[in-house]
Amino acid sequence: MEYALVTGASRGIGRAIAILLAQKGFKVIINYRSNDQEAQKTLSIITQNGGEAELLKFDVADSNTCKVAIEKWQQSHPDEYISVLVNNAGIRSDELMALMEVDDFERVVKNNLLSFFYITRLLIPQMVRHRNGRIVNIASLSGLKGVAGQTNYAASKGGLIAATKSLAQELAKKKITVNAVAPGFVRTDMVEGLDETSLKQMIPMARFGEPEEVASVVLFLVSKEASYITGECINVNGGLYS
Ligand SMILES: NC(=O)c1ccc[n+]([C@@H]2O[C@H](COP(=O)([O-])OP(=O)(O)OC[C@H]3O[C@@H](n4cnc5c(N)ncnc54)[C@H](OP(=O)(O)O)[C@@H]3O)[C@@H](O)[C@H]2O)c1
Repeated sequence: MEYALVTGASRGIGRAIAILLAQKGFKVIINYRSNDQEAQKTLSIITQNGGEAELLKFDVADSNTCKVAIEKWQQSHPDEYISVLVNNAGIRSDELMALMEVDDFERVVKNNLLSFFYITRLLIPQMVRHRNGRIVNIASLSGLKGVAGQTNYAASKGGLIAATKSLAQELAKKKITVNAVAPGFVRTDMVEGLDETSLKQMIPMARFGEPEEVASVVLFLVSKEASYITGECINVNGGLYS
């Protein structure tokens, strides 16, 4: 059975990805930062449906914490390796740039972009050794189009898409694919407080997406059927932007 690490899987899109991957037979490692109760809920949903999963709590925005947690996992699973990595954990902290504090910019870039580097680099060697790996980065429409009030978030997600394309070229010969998924508005805690009624008027499909509609694209990208797709960024946005 293959192991899949999903970061930020206690809630929202990450939870939906974790549940779907477990349904399809992956042993899922549920990462999260602080919400023990919601992480436990993701774990229970998976195990109640006959799937296998475990919790791995660490802060993806801290390079040392990532290293300690992942190396500990690797040491306790000497005969196993993580073949699927979904870099999903992310935050937003919106503000017009003229009013934005340095910490808000740095924190968002650390959580959304540097985390990709901190974690992925630790898993690549084993994927290379096994000539097998799937890396999926959850980006955003904001990283492609730009959104006012999100210079920090857009920069982090745009950087993530560019890094996806570069890493895809580095790893293609090793049978490891690296792709991104760029959701539009998806109904999770992250969009709480946004005015859905007015925003959905801009969306051709006239609704926000559901976390499961992002998860199904991730499932496809990690499947055998997607073995010739790498360096791509797939939009899941109801036609809002392409
Ligand atoms: N929702 C949207 O409309 C939308 C649109 C485009 C892109 N996205 C992207 O999709 C991804 C998931 O978003 P979401 O809407 O599902 O967010 P969410 O509902 O706010 O959930 C965020 C998840 O990430 C975890 N997390 C945050 N910071 C972390 C850290 N430093 N270390 C470990 N885990 C951390 C949270 O853990 P805790 O529960 O412990 O806090 C939680 O599980 C993000 O990358 C986001 O940028 C979302």
